[in-house]
Amino acid sequence: MEFNVNLIKRIALLAGLTMSVFSASSSAQDLSEAAIAERIAPVGNVYLDGEITTVSQSSDSTEPAGPRSGEKIYNTYCVACHGTGAAGAPVKGDAAAWQPRLAQGSETLLKHAIQGVNAMPAKGTCSDCSDEEIASAVAFLTKGL
Ligand code: HEC
Repeated sequence: MEFNVNLIKRIALLAGLTMSVFSASSSAQDLSEAAIAERIAPVGNVYLDGEITTVSQSSDSTEPAGPRSGEKIYNTYCVACHGTGAAGAPVKGDAAAWQPRLAQGSETLLKHAIQGVNAMPAKGTCSDCSDEEIASAVAFLTKGL
């Protein structure tokens, strides 16, 4: 049956072409090759495999690609206070200031960093930081003590 279907398709196509050529020649239409080609061109373009270049959706550039490093977060959010001692913040690298804080245990330290304590704001003002990112920032802040 495959052959018959193809044959019918061919006949239909031929009939269509013949009709369009007839209608073109019967009226005072532009008979140039280009004009005819345009009239008998299929509606819509046919794309073959490989012709279409897919444009990958660019991801929102404001969206972080993954967790930011502790160093990056420290330098963006924490350094304002912990780099200078502003607001009475224990300065990075000041072992004497950090010793009693470290003695509380890392869990308490992290909890205070996430929830805030006294003049220490919650998440050190990095409101879109994940707990994991704050933990890396605390690790960076207390490194080498
Ligand atoms: C607005 C200033 C400010 C910023 C910004 C800030 N801190 Fe603090 N932080 C403080 C102050 C003040 C303290 C001391 C609070 C106290 O114990 O009274 C403190 C204390 C801490 C402590 C010790 C908590 C404890 O239990 O002793 C950690 C850990 C800490 N900050 C982490 C961070 C991290 C991480 C960031 C950045 C994401 C950050 N801070 C940003 C002001 C700041």
